[in-house]
Amino acid sequence: MGKMVESDHLSLFAGRRVVVTGDTGFKGSWLALWLSMCGAEVLGYALPPKRDNDHYNLIGLKGVIRHVDGDVRDFEGMRKVFSDFDPEIVFHLAAQALVRLSYEEPKNTFDTNVGGFVNVLEVARCLPKLRSVICVTSDKCYLNKEWTWGYRESDELGGRDPYSASKAAAEMVFFGYMQAFFKDREDVGIGSVRAGNVIGGGDWSEDRIVPDSIKALQRGEPIFLRNPSSTRPWQHVLEPLSGYMLLAAKLHASPKAYSGSWNFGPDRNAVNTVRDLAERIISHWGDGRIETAVGSEGPYESKLLHLNCDKAFYSLDWHPRWDFERTVAETTVWYRDVWRGQPALPKTREQITAYMGGE
Ligand SMILES: NC(=O)c1ccc[n+]([C@@H]2O[C@H](COP(=O)([O-])OP(=O)(O)OC[C@H]3O[C@@H](n4cnc5c(N)ncnc54)[C@H](O)[C@@H]3O)[C@@H](O)[C@H]2O)c1
Repeated sequence: MGKMVESDHLSLFAGRRVVVTGDTGFKGSWLALWLSMCGAEVLGYALPPKRDNDHYNLIGLKGVIRHVDGDVRDFEGMRKVFSDFDPEIVFHLAAQALVRLSYEEPKNTFDTNVGGFVNVLEVARCLPKLRSVICVTSDKCYLNKEWTWGYRESDELGGRDPYSASKAAAEMVFFGYMQAFFKDREDVGIGSVRAGNVIGGGDWSEDRIVPDSIKALQRGEPIFLRNPSSTRPWQHVLEPLSGYMLLAAKLHASPKAYSGSWNFGPDRNAVNTVRDLAERIISHWGDGRIETAVGSEGPYESKLLHLNCDKAFYSLDWHPRWDFERTVAETTVWYRDVWRGQPALPKTREQITAYMGGE
């Protein structure tokens, strides 16, 4: 049991209208459910879910919030939906979120992650009741210099693959819109948020280590690791989401004080290798084994990127709550229990409640 944690800011969402773009995706579905548990009236806007077993489908999110199928590249369509709903808070998560796919679909990646990003800000700035906007980019927006110390919000942006470049470009769009259209507004706060790899129940995306491992375990096959010694700052999906919600509340209360860019990453001790992760998954699953590829080559993928989160620690008093062990345990147990037939909605709610209560 951990200590009780401060969650007062979550009461802000009760009864407020909140848009979540990308609610059919992994992070968006957790966020939209969490917001609804806080009493928010949530409208989700995204492309339809891709798979029957997407978290969105497994938890029946469509029955919990309002959802509209829509494309962020469709400016007029999105403007109509957002204007009709008239939200106070917008969380923008919709994106082509996969590095590997960005090599196959660079144009779609830029159209969605940059063009769609412009569309969201353009629609948002004309919403009469708007009070805060959270724009989700990525830790990959930083030009990766493969150094060992953490990246700060003021560090150079850039990307060597289409996905990372699109997120760096989105950050440029964010900064331009903030300076040109939001800087002098007393009523609206706007933040861009940069988090790293997140893990948690219900992600089935291709080329992500946890879904790949779980799929292998379900089939009774070995977990195959391309780069077992690569390190990543693993964090549970609820960690950055808690930061996004805290920031949205702060922006709502004091737009001028909190507008800008924010890192939300794990503690240093959460930086572990892919092999560490796979071994912990196996131990919580109950059985399984690992196979590694020697010298296998994939498209360029950065080796190490660690976020310096001092700004969020000191200015927001935000801190990660679950260590690496707990993060992997919660994640694996979610998949294991749902695989064994437990309903997903109460499972996800139970983990959100435990996280909020500081357990
Ligand atoms: N998952 C991670 O580890 C991670 C790490 C850093 C940043 N992010 C960022 O967080 C956000 C959410 O990521 P995720 O892991 O949930 O991704 P995901 O692929 O699970 O979900 C993406 C969501 O965006 C929607 N979407 C994609 N293209 C769209 C379009 N043209 N119009 C409307 N909706 C569209 C999808 O329908 C889905 O709802 C993304 O912006 C992603 O880049 C994710």
